[in-house]
Amino acid sequence: MIVNFCLKICYESSTMRRKQLLLLKVGIVAWLLVVYILFTYQPSTTSPSLSQKSHNINQQLDKLEDELSKQSKFYSSLLEKLRGLQRQQHEDQHISNEEDDFRLIKDGPVLPILLIACNREAAVRRSIDLLLKYRPDQERFPIIVSQDCGHKPTRETIESYGDQLSLIQQPDLSDIEVPLKERKFKGYFLIARHYKWALTQIFQKFNYEAVIIVEDDLDVAPDFYEYFSATYPILRSDPTLWCVSAWNDNGKAGLVDVRNGSSILYRTDFFPGLGWMMTRELWDELGPKWPRSYWDDWVRAPEQRANRACIRPEVSRTRTFGKKGVSNGLFYEKHLKQIHLNEVFVPFTKLNLSYLHQEQYDPTFEKEVQNSQVVSLTEVKSGRLTQGVKYKIVYHTKDVFKRTAKALGLMDDFKAGVPRTGYKGVISFFYGNNRIFLAPGNNWQGYNPSWS
Ligand SMILES: *[C@@H]1O[C@H](CO)[C@@H](O)[C@H](O)[C@H]1NC(C)=O
Ligand SMILES: *[C@@H]1O[C@H](CO)[C@@H](O)[C@H](O)[C@H]1NC(C)=O
Repeated sequence: MIVNFCLKICYESSTMRRKQLLLLKVGIVAWLLVVYILFTYQPSTTSPSLSQKSHNINQQLDKLEDELSKQSKFYSSLLEKLRGLQRQQHEDQHISNEEDDFRLIKDGPVLPILLIACNREAAVRRSIDLLLKYRPDQERFPIIVSQDCGHKPTRETIESYGDQLSLIQQPDLSDIEVPLKERKFKGYFLIARHYKWALTQIFQKFNYEAVIIVEDDLDVAPDFYEYFSATYPILRSDPTLWCVSAWNDNGKAGLVDVRNGSSILYRTDFFPGLGWMMTRELWDELGPKWPRSYWDDWVRAPEQRANRACIRPEVSRTRTFGKKGVSNGLFYEKHLKQIHLNEVFVPFTKLNLSYLHQEQYDPTFEKEVQNSQVVSLTEVKSGRLTQGVKYKIVYHTKDVFKRTAKALGLMDDFKAGVPRTGYKGVISFFYGNNRIFLAPGNNWQGYNPSWS
């Protein structure tokens, strides 16, 4: 759509230019003709004297000069007019296109962004700045910053954005009771309490139908809003889905198709978090039994997930810059920091995403993995695979999975037996210009929760 639109303008302006050129050419020929006639014209009076002749030539030169300057004025004003006309047309096109986009965006569902914040002023500012920079419409995408921790400078930072966003403050700042042996994980307890309060506000007080949740250490991609707008109807209509995430756990530049893969989306059995959308119905289900701590691992447990999947992108639409959070620093350096943030705007709302529905996705996916050519880890690492062919490395044991993943720079951990980005046990990634699956054998019986 965007490409087509550009083509249209480029095409129109090039025909305009061709018309201008033609006009100029005709003008120059006409002008040369005038000059030629003026120069060769001899008044047929009888034998004029030399002084008369030179007088005549002088007169003619004056005339010519006059003519020349008139012509030049005429052509500059003509050019000016043509340029103005073209500019006008270009602007008209531009405005009508923006109006079109605006209407499409206005027509979509309201998807509030819930930004979870605590006491990091600089981080919250960075997150808000990007969210505002790419937000196409304030009414459709209200930003609600929920602040815990009662940190005054952070609150003031958030308030400085005025009515571009709303601030809500978690009121219960009382100390939280943590079992003695988990004392160093107190942060996780505070976060779980904050999430529960903030999500209750979103769905019970503000009465929204869905929410996109981000934390105060995320950069978002230019098409962040577009991505969630387009996947929302799929999330709504497919009960085997329970979330849409902007994050690819294996989204390092060397493991995704950065050049041509920005529009590719997947289903995954692993809950990625880190910029994700849920519906009111899911909150009605999870809210009443929300845990006191480690909410993300709790969400990943089979009792909560109940075999449901999330949509995730090939190229991440979020990237975390927060090293100082509760998560561990080494993990940040080795993995999180290297996730490639998508840079091209994909017009997802104009694409047909129905392939993400389970009944369409699963048969295609299974066939694709089935038909891919088996290779060894060594062959993959050798870089001598045929381009454009799809390959798979087969694993049967946890150890082989872990060893292979580690050797390729993929995440090698499991949560409730599910590897990161896994779908039906398969990890899909991009390596040296080839699509490769790390896939379980044909007799796969489902995830083994004891794999960790
Ligand atoms: C780019 O990806 C599309 C599908 O997303 C595919 O049809 C096309 O062949 C790919 N082009 C290259 C050069 O890989
Ligand atoms: C979208 O794609 C599906 C195939 O995945 C096709 O059956 C359907 O007709 C397409 N819808 C539109 C509106 O093109």
